[in-house]
Amino acid sequence: MILVLGSNGQVGFELTQQLKAAGIAHDRLLTPKREQLDLTDLKKVSTYLQQHQPQVIINAAAYTQVDKAESEPALAELLNHQLPAVLADYIQQHDAYLLHYSTDYVYAGQGDHAQAEDAPLNPQSVYAKTKRAGEKAIRARTEHAAILRTCWVYSARGHNFMNTMLTLAQQRGALRIVNDQIGAPTSASFIAQISRAVLDKKLTGIYNLAHGGETSWYGFAQAIFSEAHALGLLTKVPSVTPIPTADYPTPAKRPLNSRLDCSALQDALGIADWPHWRSGLTNEMNRLKQQDVKHVSV
Ligand SMILES: NC(=O)c1ccc[n+]([C@@H]2O[C@H](COP(=O)([O-])OP(=O)(O)OC[C@H]3O[C@@H](n4cnc5c(N)ncnc54)[C@H](OP(=O)(O)O)[C@@H]3O)[C@@H](O)[C@H]2O)c1
Repeated sequence: MILVLGSNGQVGFELTQQLKAAGIAHDRLLTPKREQLDLTDLKKVSTYLQQHQPQVIINAAAYTQVDKAESEPALAELLNHQLPAVLADYIQQHDAYLLHYSTDYVYAGQGDHAQAEDAPLNPQSVYAKTKRAGEKAIRARTEHAAILRTCWVYSARGHNFMNTMLTLAQQRGALRIVNDQIGAPTSASFIAQISRAVLDKKLTGIYNLAHGGETSWYGFAQAIFSEAHALGLLTKVPSVTPIPTADYPTPAKRPLNSRLDCSALQDALGIADWPHWRSGLTNEMNRLKQQDVKHVSV
């Protein structure tokens, strides 16, 4: 039995779809939604685990609202730290396997080099600190777990930078976008695809997982608008002005360097051809078009 937590989220949804498409039978896949299992109720989570006895848990659930976490630290702590601890206890006691996700925000995020898994850590925000605490809780309890640190996740479906940009382009003719935070936009479907390979190999340990290449949020926005326009999803491209992070204050502090060195995961999975973030964007844009999501215009 495979249990997917957060199956309605960006990564959880894609992974569930891919597992179904790969032939995992419905009765081998548990995908409880929030209404069926509130993950803040840790007693209920433990009871659920005892009842269903999953051999594999994929924890794609998390408190992911980075800025809101600053004013809801207890909730972020519960979902990002205490929940993974409960899952890891179960995994260790039942000789099961856990696939969990973390974030590039756990790194110090300085300099301009891609950070490998052993790069200095310095989580700055409530979100980042609780995600790091979740990693530590898992590592302290079990070795039967893979933790994938990913970054800048987006998908044709869900709340994310790409969809926000497409909505804003509909409402405004000009946008100001941060250009000094650098990372690789990473599609949820790519994360799901790699997650399946990780599951197949039952990899353990901490690995970075992001698309290849790098850009800024400004560069990502420009690419979104140009691809959307070329596909007829946008009738007019808004003008975009690059601004420094200092000019766009947010409640949560974010690292400037989100570059992730993914060579350890690449080697562990034997994947020579690691896709660039631009190809991920093209895929997601084509999916948006195929879904015939409303054409947006300015
Ligand atoms: N998004 C990013 O840019 C990003 C970057 C780096 C790392 N990550 C990590 O990648 C993983 C997946 O992220 P994502 O973007 O796919 O997340 P997401 O789209 O925000 O999905 C989170 C999921 O958690 C569920 N959830 C939250 N609170 C819950 C509760 N109390 N009870 C039941 N379910 C609850 C949500 O349920 P509902 O659908 O009902 O709300 C949703 O399905 C997370 O570990 C995240 O920290 C994400």
